[in-house]
Amino acid sequence: MKDENFLKANNARSLWHPMTAPADSHKSPPVIVTEGHGVRIRDIDGHETVDAVGGLWNVNLGYSAQPVKDAIAAQLNRLPYYSTFRGTSNDQVIELAEELRTFFEPDGLTRAFFTSGGSDSVETALRLARQYHKIRGDGGRVKYLSLKKGYHGTHTGGASVNGNANFRTMYEPLLPGCYHIPAPYTYRNPFGESDPAKLAQLCLQALEDEIAFQGAGTIAAFIMEPILGAGGVIPPHPSFMPAVEKICRKNGILLIADEVITAFGRTGAWTGSRLWGVKPDFACTAKAITNAYFPFGAVMISEGVADVFEKDDTGKAAIGHGYTYSGHPVGAAAALATLSETKRLNVKDNAAARGTELFKGVQALMAKYDCIGDVRGGYGLMTAIEMVSDRATKAAPAKADPGKVQAAAYRAGAMVRVSGPNIILSPPLILTSEDVQVIIAALDAGFAAL
Ligand SMILES: Cc1ncc(COP(=O)(O)O)c(C=O)c1O
Repeated sequence: MKDENFLKANNARSLWHPMTAPADSHKSPPVIVTEGHGVRIRDIDGHETVDAVGGLWNVNLGYSAQPVKDAIAAQLNRLPYYSTFRGTSNDQVIELAEELRTFFEPDGLTRAFFTSGGSDSVETALRLARQYHKIRGDGGRVKYLSLKKGYHGTHTGGASVNGNANFRTMYEPLLPGCYHIPAPYTYRNPFGESDPAKLAQLCLQALEDEIAFQGAGTIAAFIMEPILGAGGVIPPHPSFMPAVEKICRKNGILLIADEVITAFGRTGAWTGSRLWGVKPDFACTAKAITNAYFPFGAVMISEGVADVFEKDDTGKAAIGHGYTYSGHPVGAAAALATLSETKRLNVKDNAAARGTELFKGVQALMAKYDCIGDVRGGYGLMTAIEMVSDRATKAAPAKADPGKVQAAAYRAGAMVRVSGPNIILSPPLILTSEDVQVIIAALDAGFAAL
């Protein structure tokens, strides 16, 4: 490794960072992380913190998951790559598909299509949804519906169903035929409704209204996150997603659950769909599938959709889609080891218990600091703090404030993430109660520093 002076002098000089302006990285150079152990990361100055971001919602088992590291190393030595395009496969990916079939069977998802990450998984599900309808002779179904505030990655298809202007405006025109429904976001919504059950009903009415307006026969799929993550951790009322499923079924629209964050235990259930008792047609997964140690993803596919593809004899079911790294043997080996550790440690139960502690701790901070307008979470280890400059008007915080809280919290022992006015917490699922207290104390110091 180059020495510390070299790294600091060249920090962000020759690379552009995602999700920020290049000039901002010059003004405030990114933290250079050099080590990770357990749930902690260490920076180039030797400062150690609890990683309350969990990498990027993906290092669910922390940084010391040795079986995953060993599996990657062993697979690199045995077979570092082979393609799964027509005509070839590998042992790891076959075994993984069977493991995933068992894992997702309660969600009714029995086939896997492998990808290199979350955006790829979303793109895959969107494309296969259109193809499903074409195979069935219903090729007019090409549109997509989704939620405002939803995040579905940054490929053009994903950005088109994305519900946040930050990821859209500079890249327009996006895909035609994408329409957005208000999110069940009680703190701010166009209905002025703060009751979660009533708001869910209003959003569902908006969905039905949009379907009637577009014509059900023109819509391929509805995509949603079971709990909206990057948009600011928005858990819908429990009635919402099951009702969405019913509306989709009634109208012949496929339901895509974007589980890139929620699959594998983060919500306190093994999947977000299972949390709400929903059986989607597709589930997009990535992130924690390999504990973040290898870029990898899987789109899980329902029996009903599989049937249409597998029984087709017209040639329309030929999948003209895939990635060079679909089914990468090292990724598959990493996923097999991760899945085994994930189940062995039963991380969903710890996510639920620690998630409740974290949520309560953050609610206590809200009682102390007026700049906290809303706190959202309560389902596993995904929690957000929405900052405001005035609680009564809910006016946005001063632009620099969330960053100031983040910087002070970092100095006090926890890495947290800022997204717009939100501070987002998504720590590893192996967190202890003591780690939760470190995060809360660091945030307390962060808010006190304003
Ligand atoms: C719900 C959801 N979908 C898709 C993505 C995109 O995943 P990736 O960044 O791996 O492409 C993300 C990433 O955060 C996500 O949260």
